[in-house]
Amino acid sequence: MKFTTKRPALAALAALAAPLAFAQPNPALIDNKPAFVADLLRQMTLEEKVGQLRLISIGPEMPAAQLAEEIAAGRVGGTFNSINHKEQRPLQEAAVNRSRLKIPMLFAYDVLHGHRTSFPIGLGLASSWDMEAVRLTARTAAVEAAADGVDVTFAPTVDISRDPRWGRTSEGFGEDPYLVSQIARAMVQGFQNGTPAGKVLGRDSIMASVKHFALYGAVEGGRDYNIVDMSPMRMYNDYLPPYKAAIDAGAGGVMIALNTVNGQPATSNTWLLQDLLRKDWGFRGVTFSDHGAITELMRHGVARDEREAAKLAIKAGVDMSMADQVYLKELPGLVKSGEVPMKTLDNAVREVLGAKYDMGLFHAPFLRIGKAEDDPPDLKADSRLHRAPARDVARRSMVLLENRNRTLPIAKGAAVALVGPLADAPIDMMGVWSGQAVWKQSVTLRTGMEKALEGQGRLLYARGANVTEDKAIVEYLNFLNWDEPEVVQDKRAPQEMIDEAVATAKQADVVVAAVGESRGMSHESSSRTRLDLPESQQALLKALKATGKPLVLVLMNGRPLTLNWEKANADAMLETWFAGTEGGHAIADVLFGDANPSGKLPISLPRSVGQIPTYYNHPRLGRPFTPGKPGNYTSQYFDEPQGALYPFGHGLSYTDFSLSDVTLSSARMPRGGKVEASVTVANTGDRAGETVVQLYIQDVAASVVRPVKELKDFRKLMLQPGEKKEVRFTIGEDKLAFYNAKLQYLAEPGEFKVQIGLDSQNVKEQGFELK
Ligand code: NOJ
Repeated sequence: MKFTTKRPALAALAALAAPLAFAQPNPALIDNKPAFVADLLRQMTLEEKVGQLRLISIGPEMPAAQLAEEIAAGRVGGTFNSINHKEQRPLQEAAVNRSRLKIPMLFAYDVLHGHRTSFPIGLGLASSWDMEAVRLTARTAAVEAAADGVDVTFAPTVDISRDPRWGRTSEGFGEDPYLVSQIARAMVQGFQNGTPAGKVLGRDSIMASVKHFALYGAVEGGRDYNIVDMSPMRMYNDYLPPYKAAIDAGAGGVMIALNTVNGQPATSNTWLLQDLLRKDWGFRGVTFSDHGAITELMRHGVARDEREAAKLAIKAGVDMSMADQVYLKELPGLVKSGEVPMKTLDNAVREVLGAKYDMGLFHAPFLRIGKAEDDPPDLKADSRLHRAPARDVARRSMVLLENRNRTLPIAKGAAVALVGPLADAPIDMMGVWSGQAVWKQSVTLRTGMEKALEGQGRLLYARGANVTEDKAIVEYLNFLNWDEPEVVQDKRAPQEMIDEAVATAKQADVVVAAVGESRGMSHESSSRTRLDLPESQQALLKALKATGKPLVLVLMNGRPLTLNWEKANADAMLETWFAGTEGGHAIADVLFGDANPSGKLPISLPRSVGQIPTYYNHPRLGRPFTPGKPGNYTSQYFDEPQGALYPFGHGLSYTDFSLSDVTLSSARMPRGGKVEASVTVANTGDRAGETVVQLYIQDVAASVVRPVKELKDFRKLMLQPGEKKEVRFTIGEDKLAFYNAKLQYLAEPGEFKVQIGLDSQNVKEQGFELK
């Protein structure tokens, strides 16, 4: 009796003591993820669970030493922006040696188009239409970032953008759901080295966290952070596919967008985060809020206070709170009061622990941090860069928009005048999401051209203009100074710079003008109302044109610009976007013909801001404008020509290609069957070159209005002079299907047009019927 009364008391004591004495990840369960995570979750206190949901950055309000204490107390699950082993190691040690449960930290960072080595920005990568190049970019970035202790990147950015006023157009991959989906897949495969969802990543891979879910690229008026209001059909057919593609490719994370989606901020949008993402798409990974987004629910006006904001976010399905201010403060109380069920909290924590498991951190918390003795002596050493792949990918990312009289390539014996504010601009060359790239290591166009001409031609240089003379804009762009001011103004009078450039041009055989935007003009929170070149640069170009010398424009910019004067007056135009660390070499390779450009536009270039949105795959109309037949009562602007200045898919080469008519294997496709479409492409010019054969489909009559055409496949291929190749596309029902008015995904019987071309406008056509 004595014994039995004591036993429950002892047992109760033991139960209380157990979490303190023995709690930690159970190594015996390490090969069984669900059991391992469940076992850990069972041992966690409420506060520890909340701690796992917090993503904190070292900063003035959270110095490194304080963060280590917070981690030791079980109040932080991961950091972002710590990419230095010396900084990460004590944090990880605090987690695995000093915190009660020894749950490792995760280290997150924005790795978008490279890490130590900058590759071309998103639009540039997309212009390559080369999925191997895209994969290589992400793979290289992952190798570099993992070597810096990064476990997860907030990338890829797959927001479809049809409004180039939006500065983050630069970051995404353009306007087309199919192309962006292919790139989304390739990026995820590259970051994760092909590791599918739910499998443990290797040491040199990082988890992809696709963003910004969802529809961020459709913000109203192109104003960053603005609202998105969109029909479900447009959402499902055009804007959602790339996120889905990234998830299907195995992306372990999703970053939630800052915008609203049809009246509800994404961060509190249960339909988006639960019904669509988890239930319909079966996503089983971790979701991250964007920076401070939970607190912003109050500004959106859907939460009265922080408590309500935290409650809305956790209930909607926001697992980790970036720069958390409210989960720590509010979640414990919300759970204790029963307003947030423990199950809801557990679901979020389970995803975080699961993601850490998939990052390999429970197997080896220091997997990517390594041992102190192996720390690179110099994080910024040139030997840590991957210059060769960066140069190769950059060459592939450039789009030759115009080339009159074969102005390009330039003979290496020529005297070349290089002018323009971006000719010698190492910071801009890197593009904006290159936090760890060092500007002194980036090759400017001037350096690249000097190197290419060494011992041959002559390079003369004059700056010619500032990117802009608008002081307010310069001030805006210099708001974010990393280690150097972004934009450094030449103090000379504009006319003095132009005069110098003109005098330089007069001594040369050909003028190359590097013009466009400084990189910060195409970035987060950098929306523009005008898309033309700033006036200072226009004035420079006009003066150069007046010299009568052949004028080559090298464009550096992060969004479609309106290039009407430039198209009419330049002899050649090469769109190079922001080409990355090796940009100067790569552009010189193309200018002098060591590389033949093969890029194609992943986004239409509009004629004017008034014409936006201008995208090739727009829905059919009852009163379409008919080219060559102007008339009233059609959908048009009467004050300027219709359509894009340069269409989606456009891009020239130094050689010429011809395309045969389209042959279809059958004029009928039975349900569940296939039709093959083939064309022969020939290199009719005198040098080897690559082109992209593009397959578009139009649904002739459907239950709802469908686009005039949609890209459904493409093939990039290299042809030697005189060579011909047959390209075959297999068309199955998957290429005909769409979401109808009831959001059912299906192909409807009827007639389809198959269009094949080397851009979206000039196509060869055939039809078939789906029976
Ligand atoms: C805000 C941006 O919207 C997001 O893309 C980024 O990942 C975070 N800041 C963290 O840098």
